[in-house]
Amino acid sequence: MPIHLRCERLRVLGLITNRISSIFTEALIIEGQFPASMRDWFAARTKRLQISGIRKMFEMAGPDSINLGLGELDFQPSEKAMNALAEAVKAGYNRYGPTRGIPELRTVLAERLTRYRPDVEMENIIITAGGTQGLMVTAMTLFDHGDEVLTPDPGFVIYQPHVIMCGATPLRYSLKFENDFQPNPDEIQELITPRTKAIIINSPNNPTSGILTPETIKALRDIAVDNEMVIISDEVYDEIIFEGEHHSMLNPDYDNVVYVNSFSKTFAVTGWRLGYLASSKYMVNQLAKIQYYNIACPPTPLQKAIYEVMKAPTNMIHERVGELTKRRDAIVKRCNDIPGFSCLKPNGAFYVFPSFDQDISSEDFAMELVKNNLICAPGSAFGKGGEGHLRFSFANSLENIEKGMDIVEKVARGIPRKK
Ligand SMILES: Cc1ncc(COP(=O)(O)O)c(C=O)c1O
Repeated sequence: MPIHLRCERLRVLGLITNRISSIFTEALIIEGQFPASMRDWFAARTKRLQISGIRKMFEMAGPDSINLGLGELDFQPSEKAMNALAEAVKAGYNRYGPTRGIPELRTVLAERLTRYRPDVEMENIIITAGGTQGLMVTAMTLFDHGDEVLTPDPGFVIYQPHVIMCGATPLRYSLKFENDFQPNPDEIQELITPRTKAIIINSPNNPTSGILTPETIKALRDIAVDNEMVIISDEVYDEIIFEGEHHSMLNPDYDNVVYVNSFSKTFAVTGWRLGYLASSKYMVNQLAKIQYYNIACPPTPLQKAIYEVMKAPTNMIHERVGELTKRRDAIVKRCNDIPGFSCLKPNGAFYVFPSFDQDISSEDFAMELVKNNLICAPGSAFGKGGEGHLRFSFANSLENIEKGMDIVEKVARGIPRKK
């Protein structure tokens, strides 16, 4: 075939291929995010993800809005922590450190975790750039295309995206108000297939503030053992407990647990981006491989500062639990006084997750509140199971909680209730 004809055939073929790929792109992109005429650079995983429903509320909010939407304490870190950070920087802790984190911090953390599992050692710990990155490195270490991962619904907004980013499939198990937001082991058992590799659990829970009972923990562990599944246990609120004690998944009875924690909430240092994982040594060795290629090492001066705070037996959050308890009691009462609202009293974390019977979706309800200068998170941002709920954080002052709940009450009274 003459060269010019061959070129023409290739050109036509190219046009057809481009057209097909742009039809695909048009179907997948969220309108307005990037011009449809643009070359399709974005990976399928990027297009499968949506912007978090919580972010949307922040973007719409006015500058004077009261914020009951944030999972972040309104306290500053302790003087000690701030001074320790400044000193660490001045003392030269500004270089790369070990991928798994500085040994002195890992040793202190191992000691702390012996309350759950007496044999934890420094080698069982890996420091991460916050709980978020700890969860991501765990997902990348474990999940492949074709795997299924059980995730809570409603559940913290990053679990499902992490599974999707690894090419695996999230399966949702429900946390129901009428069941005190405890997972139902029978439902979980039914969801499991030979492809189900892991279950993500979270206690105390965001958004429900539910706390797993020892019975549920045992039932979930038995299911994981029987099905050779990994348990990824997000316990970033394990120090924020109002009554009773926290029950951890980290336990000598099962090795295949990845325990996830963070300094964000406990030390009021969300912006420092530091957390940690604990697991069996063989799991940590695999996590460390991915961690190296992901962030090389966690931030050195921040680790040193947290170590300085943790080596003394003080715990900033315990000193604040009294204040948080007052806020919790105030917000629960205010929620239960609103016609159509029903709110459980949380025993940990700092969220309430009331149900409502107003005839409106949680997203539209939250939008109405934003228009009235109150930011909260719609229940649907945490999964289908969150519909019919709103999440309010009480990590804000009593005064702001009262003002915020005045707005909720006024808006709620203006919306017709379901028959
Ligand atoms: C349940 C849960 N896990 C993990 C995180 C991540 O925390 P960070 O990345 O700040 O350590 C959060 C933050 O809100 C959370 O609520």
